[in-house]
Amino acid sequence: MDIIHETGMGPTTMNSGTERITGTISLPTDAADRVSEARLWQRHMEMAKLGAIPDNGVNRQALSDEDIAARRLLIGWARARGFTIAQDGIGNLFVRRPGRDPDAAPVVTGSHLDSQPRGGRFDGAYGVLAGLEALEALDDARMATERPIEVVAWTNEEGGRFAPGAMGSMVFTGTRKLADCLAIADGEGLRLEDALAATLAATPVDETRDFNFPIAAYIEAHIEQGPRLEAEGVPIGVVTGIQGSRWFEVEVLGEGAHAGTAPLKTRRDALQGALAVVHALNQVMADDSDTVRFTVGRFEVTPNSPNTVAHRVLFTIDLRHPEAEVLQHLGDRVRATCEAAAGRCEVRLRETFHQNPCVFDAAVQRAISESARELALPAIHMPSGAFHDAQFLNDVCPSGMIFVPCEGGISHNPAENARPEDLAAGTRVLVQTLIRLAGGIQV
Ligand code: GLV
Ligand code: MN
Ligand code: MN
Repeated sequence: MDIIHETGMGPTTMNSGTERITGTISLPTDAADRVSEARLWQRHMEMAKLGAIPDNGVNRQALSDEDIAARRLLIGWARARGFTIAQDGIGNLFVRRPGRDPDAAPVVTGSHLDSQPRGGRFDGAYGVLAGLEALEALDDARMATERPIEVVAWTNEEGGRFAPGAMGSMVFTGTRKLADCLAIADGEGLRLEDALAATLAATPVDETRDFNFPIAAYIEAHIEQGPRLEAEGVPIGVVTGIQGSRWFEVEVLGEGAHAGTAPLKTRRDALQGALAVVHALNQVMADDSDTVRFTVGRFEVTPNSPNTVAHRVLFTIDLRHPEAEVLQHLGDRVRATCEAAAGRCEVRLRETFHQNPCVFDAAVQRAISESARELALPAIHMPSGAFHDAQFLNDVCPSGMIFVPCEGGISHNPAENARPEDLAAGTRVLVQTLIRLAGGIQV
């Protein structure tokens, strides 16, 4: 089976041209063959009950009671198989299958268990459950590895409750300090520090870990969250890299007034000011090539009363682009654009997240491609439009990602769906890749 590397989006280094991989050492597929599609699907359905919302969706936001329940479910499954559990100071959970060399740095795989407020059953949960399934398949095949393999559930990847996202992996890798995250509050004013303390207390583990312990390699399985794999009928995406993101919070401040009496000319209407700002930003971000991703996803009006002129609006900007220079340039235009468009209102701007595009390690990409070929699973190389914890791990160890198709490319939506056979195929590629990276030995 040939693996075709295809050109992805935009002129960035995360995309290679068309290339054929040749000459690889074949590994036995015994452990990959032990992946149980039924067990993996059943676990997804069990996990999806925690925070279930109508229409098959999930609301399991970071450090909530539902997130705690999900962590406890994972810990229970891991303990039942004799794996040990560790946790670090921001609640990142690590499930360990020992290697022959106890001192060797582990190969780590995983993703996140938290969801968007109206999220789906697979975004994040798949990478964690695929990792656990991989450990069990290795056990079932009596396959030892030289290095330990650990499954991680990163804390607060989504950022819908406590912004920004990817907080667990950022703190782990040193991109952001834990102390700088503790005072971040959710929409109800609850501090992350308190939600984290409650989570840690509810999930006792065998071992406490330092941040940034040595990791030999990191690999994350995830649904694609876009339409390409399904449309092309290809089961495996070898992810080349991730586009960059900048997040902002914009506060527009005006003056409250009576809707029936205050003359329009003298009003300082924060809602009208915010609408003008968003309109101006849309014009700055306009892009005929449809590469720029500009989203205003949260819009809070105060006091939100029909007959009071709003005195405050808070809205968020999520800006993404595969080229660092374009991301820098567009993000740097946000402040002046807001100030020019806000009229009589005051604007306060805060950047909460800035992550440049990343390019995944070539050897990890090759390991995934070779594993797919061994399993006779067609694969294409493709970039990711969504951000993932893997892009932060990529700064500290060789990292990569495996994508599997999802229905209609729909994600961050209760309708998110994936086929059991596609989830299993991605997990089989994960097993084979872990064996490559961790040094598998049949015993
Ligand atoms: C991850 O959830 C993202 O927003 O890309
Ligand atoms: Mn995700
Ligand atoms: Mn997500």
